[in-house]
Amino acid sequence: MTDKALPLLGGLTRQQFLDEYWQKKPLLVRQALPVAATLSDPEELAGLSLEDEIESRIIIGADKHWQVQHGPFDEDTYKTLAKNDWTLLVQAINFYLPQFTPLISQFDFLPKWRIDDVMASYAAPGGSVGPHFDNYDVFLIQGFGKRHWKVGQLCDENSVLQSHPDLRLLEEFNTEEEWILEPGDMLYIPPRIAHFGVAVDACITYSLGFTSPSTSQVAEYFCDDVLERDLSSKRYADPMLSALENNGVLTKSALQQFKSMLIEELDKPEVLSHWLARMISEPKYNNYSPAENDKLDDDAFFSLLKKGEPLLRDEASRFIFTEHEETKILYINGSEIPHPGCPALLTVLCGHQALEAECLVPLLNTPKSISWLNALYCSGYLYFDGNYSAHA
Ligand code: SIN
Ligand code: CO
Repeated sequence: MTDKALPLLGGLTRQQFLDEYWQKKPLLVRQALPVAATLSDPEELAGLSLEDEIESRIIIGADKHWQVQHGPFDEDTYKTLAKNDWTLLVQAINFYLPQFTPLISQFDFLPKWRIDDVMASYAAPGGSVGPHFDNYDVFLIQGFGKRHWKVGQLCDENSVLQSHPDLRLLEEFNTEEEWILEPGDMLYIPPRIAHFGVAVDACITYSLGFTSPSTSQVAEYFCDDVLERDLSSKRYADPMLSALENNGVLTKSALQQFKSMLIEELDKPEVLSHWLARMISEPKYNNYSPAENDKLDDDAFFSLLKKGEPLLRDEASRFIFTEHEETKILYINGSEIPHPGCPALLTVLCGHQALEAECLVPLLNTPKSISWLNALYCSGYLYFDGNYSAHA
């Protein structure tokens, strides 16, 4: 990949951004993504917030008085809201609005599995979600209107929070830098940096959020894997036991023995990558699976591809592959999926949301590979979208 200076990163190369800012300090980029100004509007977001399966919240408040309501909402909700000081948050809008796909692909220089979703926030003047920190990286991209953003101190689990049953808001906020973001501007915020945005006028902000699994989540998958493989016959052993002075203590050598039992299970690269890839490719929402497409026969499917019909990945599905020497394993939505063994096909499929025909067609050089990709299409993991344009 040539690493040239990018307007998206304010003239930095990808590597400069990663070295100087990523997970380290905030970066403001004016006019990083001018297209964001027209990607959605309040009516579209309010419409999404009426849907049962879409996660949405309304936060009302200012200073230290905050209320939160959880969606789905109904039309009347919007009639009862005041003119000022409220914010509608709609999670994962990129799963439902394909116009966000080219915007997200601008961030393809980051590991694809790290991208969680795009959350939209529509705020009436004065609206805010309050001073807080997130445990993950976020790019705040201004849609329409203006929002006043402040960034503050580095927080951790000991940072004092306001007492609120539902919201994790900071008791103290020490402003270090502040800016007014206008349509197309972008602010990158690393994990745990306090931030606080207030709508100057009615405005929309899109937050591209990243996933960063906690030790607890990873441990949960490790335990599930150990239970699934049923290691109950592998047991503690102490053939080198020494006679003890104090038999009531858990000795260092016993602790070492337990640690070795666990490390032995972690030290199997293929096993480790199997459960980690399953974890990483889990869809955001439990038990999600895409709606199936009407069946196409393999010839009809391949003809559409050859005609250049844009083929896209279902936005809510997660794809990743692992590699051990020559073996590559594909995972979609938490399950291992057999594949026809063309590594370049896996690279294209797992690396991009929009699968370009000119990359794909030359790789589909056997009936088996066409049939396999068509099966993914029929299951709904892929779909054709004649209106798709790769230009954000
Ligand atoms: C917002 O857009 O109001 C909140 C986004 C965030 O702080 O991550
Ligand atoms: Co935030």
